Amino acid sequence: MSSIAVLGFQWGDEGKGRIVDLLSGRVDMVVRFQGGNNAGHTVTKGGDVFKLHLIPSGILYPDVTCVIGDGVVLNPAVLIEELDELNKKDINTDNLRISCKAHMVMPYHVLLDKAREHRLGKSKIGTTHKGIGPVYSDKSSRSGIRTQDLLDSKIFRAKLEEELALKNALIEKVYGLKPLDIDEVYEDYMLYAGRIGDYIIDTTFTINQYLDNNKSVLFEGAQGTMLDIDQGTYPYVTSSSTTAAGVCVGAGIGPGRLDEVIGIVKAYTTRVGSGPFPSEIDGAVGEHLREKGNEYGTTTGRPRRCGWIDTMVLKYAVMLNYPDSIAMTKLDILSGLEKLMICRAYEYSGNIYDDLPCHQTILHKCRPVFLEMEGWKEDISDVKSYDGLPAQARAYIEKIEELVKVPVSMISVGPERNQIIIRDGSVKKRLFDSGSRSTLIV
Ligand code: GDP
Ligand code: IMO
Ligand code: MG
Repeated sequence: MSSIAVLGFQWGDEGKGRIVDLLSGRVDMVVRFQGGNNAGHTVTKGGDVFKLHLIPSGILYPDVTCVIGDGVVLNPAVLIEELDELNKKDINTDNLRISCKAHMVMPYHVLLDKAREHRLGKSKIGTTHKGIGPVYSDKSSRSGIRTQDLLDSKIFRAKLEEELALKNALIEKVYGLKPLDIDEVYEDYMLYAGRIGDYIIDTTFTINQYLDNNKSVLFEGAQGTMLDIDQGTYPYVTSSSTTAAGVCVGAGIGPGRLDEVIGIVKAYTTRVGSGPFPSEIDGAVGEHLREKGNEYGTTTGRPRRCGWIDTMVLKYAVMLNYPDSIAMTKLDILSGLEKLMICRAYEYSGNIYDDLPCHQTILHKCRPVFLEMEGWKEDISDVKSYDGLPAQARAYIEKIEELVKVPVSMISVGPERNQIIIRDGSVKKRLFDSGSRSTLIV
């Protein structure tokens, strides 16, 4: 048995896709276990840029099985678009499997997500408008429609009729919008059934069989710990469980089956949408990070809010996910800044907080307490070894390790596959130097 979870430790967009891509060549299966097409994972391969929303980032390897697991919410129209895009680029998608338990995003979910955000006005969450909140609400209230319902047109029609009657009342009477036509929705989804029906299986058994047979499985997180429905900055969160515990629920494996957790940490912090962000930088430095780091949403194109690295957030993510190591991304973007700040505490009303405060008022109003570090001028995007990094960059990484008490095992210095520094140590030995695929992560 060998399994590894790759999870975001901030507010998403940490670079999960590029690290999953790096490790995918070394595993037998890659599984998405939560979220939907609110995610946008970018993989750069020889100058080609792939933006994946639903399909696991392992798809670029022809012999890796890719699974859209039970806990994912799937918009079939988006999936088909993504399949077409990949096929156009000669990427084979035959190895995709979709859980028969995954819930489907329906057109009314998307419509209601947008309508609610509009109604909230200044208090909006800043969602991606992909219907994520409404589809997870229906799942919890047991009125969702699952991928397996696509396989039986009568059942699908009956469920749709039941649900659309209620949703149309809401759409018309509360939001004053045009109701959806049942025949149109039905016919669209029957077309989708023809396209993706063959991919739908009981993936829970498949994943566990892989593990039983000592194959290696990578679980690809979407969003980040601070967007977790229970542990994040509620209500400015997404609607799924983004932490290590979510892997078990969303893929259907027992907790003891997870062997390794890697936390993905951007060398600074970004956030899209509303909500507290204590280490956010206003002005020129924030602007510099946004432009140099190309910090614009992969899914919505919105400018990402930028801030300094926040060890309060990272310590909290470490507590919740219990990682073996951290992969730090986008270190190259910090090159050229004279001073770097590390947020190490918050100050509110004369009190210093060393751990993330639970109360949202404090998170909204606190001031960051910074530790100042020296920056470096050199371009580091071609550096291949840890010792090749400028002393100031190593000091920055080592200070973060000291504060969060987890080793940084990988450092990426550019988006390409070869722009990665694997530090000597156990990760290198287990993930990169060992022999056959199935015995890699043991
Ligand atoms: P994800 O959602 O966590 O997979 O992250 P996104 O793909 O939304 O955002 C990360 C962005 O940073 C993508 O455009 C990546 O190509 C890019 N990226 C990842 N790692 C690095 C790096 O080390 N350096 C630079 N310059 N870009 C990177
Ligand atoms: P990846 O996987 C960054 C944010 C939205 C919004 C909040 C709720 O690429 O890291 P939702 O549409 O989920 O109801 O929006 O969550 N959000 C993300 N931010 N990266 C993501 O995914 C995100 N997915 C959702 O911006 O603030
Ligand atoms: Mg993203």
